Amino acid sequence: MGEKITVSLIKADIGSLAGHHRVHPKQMEMAEKLLAEARDSGLLLDFRVFHCGDDLQLLMTHRRGENSSEIHGLAWNIFKEVTEKVSKPLKLYAAGQDLLAEAFSGNIKGMGPGVAELEFEERGADPLVVFAADKTEPGAWNYPLYKIFADPFNTAGLVIDPSLHGGFKFVILDVFEGLEVELNCPEEAYDLLALIGTPSRYVISKIYRKDGLPAAAASTSRLSLIAGRYVGKDDPVCIVRAQHGLPAVGEVLEPFAFPHIVAGWMRGSHHGPLMPVPLKYAQCTRFDGPPRVVALGFQIHSGILEGPADLFDDPAFDLARQRANEVADFLRRHGLFMPHRLGPDEMEYTTLPKVLEKLKDRFRKAQ
Ligand code: F6R
Ligand code: MG
Ligand code: MG
Repeated sequence: MGEKITVSLIKADIGSLAGHHRVHPKQMEMAEKLLAEARDSGLLLDFRVFHCGDDLQLLMTHRRGENSSEIHGLAWNIFKEVTEKVSKPLKLYAAGQDLLAEAFSGNIKGMGPGVAELEFEERGADPLVVFAADKTEPGAWNYPLYKIFADPFNTAGLVIDPSLHGGFKFVILDVFEGLEVELNCPEEAYDLLALIGTPSRYVISKIYRKDGLPAAAASTSRLSLIAGRYVGKDDPVCIVRAQHGLPAVGEVLEPFAFPHIVAGWMRGSHHGPLMPVPLKYAQCTRFDGPPRVVALGFQIHSGILEGPADLFDDPAFDLARQRANEVADFLRRHGLFMPHRLGPDEMEYTTLPKVLEKLKDRFRKAQ
């Protein structure tokens, strides 16, 4: 085993170009410059800036561990500075949207931006896949993470490779109660599914191999629960390690060949298919969607990132994209009817209750 490093992916929607469509290149430029300064000062080992739709993504490697106030503070300050110096002067749409707290208070979790972090000892060769999605919520990872780490029909290695055969431990967060539970797979797969089939409430936050090897981390923040009102969707991120005793990169990508239906899309109020796309298509258009996901592959050595490989930039995912378009078309025909529109529980956190409030006094006892 090698040295311990931490990969932190911290993201926020701090304003975008053409409504909620995409990050402005000048926002990325400024974030690059500020992260380069942090690397040169010794705080970071390496970094990448990218975007998925209207979310600015800061991928950082360092030795400060998970939940480091220095790293979280760096990301917060960058989001603030880019908001003040680029988003606001250019009047980008919803400038500073996800910065829900007044001031930084030591840990960026709960302040608006999404965070996925994984500390691990670098192996001889360590492939990493970083996922980012736009126009959806953290529970969107439940289905693919289950497939990758618990379903042998997806991950052949769970059966074939003795080093995966023992299975994985999942950490699940109840985002309403702030409670978490650990469940072991395959033994407790039915219990796991009983929870994560409700992705609006139960969200996979971490996955470890049974021997404790860190395998995956996902962001869990739900903006509406932090703010108590609708502030756009959370647009989650996820880090997955691969190969050599972990699922292969191809097994990590395989679940996305099925564009499963997630909550989000227009006004955070609709179900739609999650379309796997290359970076150049990571921008939402039709009905502010359909929701997108990108996958970036890296090799990491002493915290230095080699890559990215734009993993969904491949005809092997053409069919998934076509299916996503067909499903999107089918769902759109429902207009505002469920199950395209989310159910009443989820609509609590949108602007719909204000409309319903207006009608309250017009109801009378039915004859
Ligand atoms: C979804 C999203 C968009 C907006 C929609 C309305 O996450 O951000 O679909 O909800 O474009 O935006 P406003 O209310 O800003 O006009
Ligand atoms: Mg936006
Ligand atoms: Mg977004």
